[in-house]
Amino acid sequence: MLVLGIETSCDETSAAVVRDGREILSNIILSQTVHTRFGGVIPEVASREHIKNIIPIYEEALEEAKVSLDDIGLVAATMGPGLVGPLLVGLTFAKGIAYSRKLPFVPVNHLEGHLSANILEHPDLDKHHITLIVSGGHTMLVEVKSFGEYEILGQTRDDAAGEAFDKVAKLMGLGYPGGAALDKLAQQGDPKFFRFPRAVMKQEYEFSYSGLKTAVAIYLEKLKPEEFEEHKADIAASFQEAVVDVLVKKTLRIAEEKNIRDVTISGGVAANSRLRSRLKEQLAKKKRRLFYPSIALCTDNAAMIAAAGFYRFEKSGPGELIANAIPYLKLVG
Ligand code: KG4
Ligand code: ZN
Repeated sequence: MLVLGIETSCDETSAAVVRDGREILSNIILSQTVHTRFGGVIPEVASREHIKNIIPIYEEALEEAKVSLDDIGLVAATMGPGLVGPLLVGLTFAKGIAYSRKLPFVPVNHLEGHLSANILEHPDLDKHHITLIVSGGHTMLVEVKSFGEYEILGQTRDDAAGEAFDKVAKLMGLGYPGGAALDKLAQQGDPKFFRFPRAVMKQEYEFSYSGLKTAVAIYLEKLKPEEFEEHKADIAASFQEAVVDVLVKKTLRIAEEKNIRDVTISGGVAANSRLRSRLKEQLAKKKRRLFYPSIALCTDNAAMIAAAGFYRFEKSGPGELIANAIPYLKLVG
């Protein structure tokens, strides 16, 4: 079955065609650049950009997949969590196609989409696994008992890991969103240059990143411009290490405690080179396996939504066309 996936929850307009939740025929992603000058996503501007781009992006997805709407068997679109205006554009567009073509429709939880990127790309991955979802809006450890059956083991109390990357990148003049740029800069730096704080939480599997961001801000304020220039890469690497240390430690501990062999990382920060390499190395020492999506499937994209839509459809059939956008949609409950 060919699934048309649509994703517009934030500032990426994306459409994809995926066969049977496994094979990507196309995955077109347009990252809106208009927000860069504002240093953050302006929801109303994002909505208008989605409206402008959704049809050409959808057409490109069909064209690249070399299929027509007649070949599509299911339509899936993100219903939340995300920005309500942007969500409504993609969701309404997808529902319109499903209604006019009498196709089944599945509304998709964006977080389930992120974790599905690993299922899509790794047929070998155990159904029962742990996933660390790390994106611009979420940081959570989840036990995936099987697709659709989740237990949240811990999440962030304040900022998400990606948010911390973006805020620190902005402070360091690396632009917005700056996670990937910071990662690149950090590769030339010394992660032991300065020890930024690692938040210790009462709840073992909870995270907190707002203190770290403030610590970096205070540290940067005290630096002379020439010191900053000289040690830019070291500061980036030291900050990144503080984020990654906590993510690695908690993920390892939960995998050990629950004795679950397979671990995945999902969401934009799963693209982080240091997180990938350190977690892989540490898990391998414990005879556990780490899976992560290819870079294009880490950040927001419609292929993961098409895949999640397919798995949902297999599990519980089509959804309702009255499905509305839910900005604070949870993964569980
Ligand atoms: O999943 P995503 O595209 O959007 C949300 O659902 O939030 O994640 C975007 C986040 C941004 O905060 C971005 O800076 C971060 O992922 N990100 C990275 C890297 N690539 C993207 N953070 C650290 N290292 C990277 N290589
Ligand atoms: Zn996302």
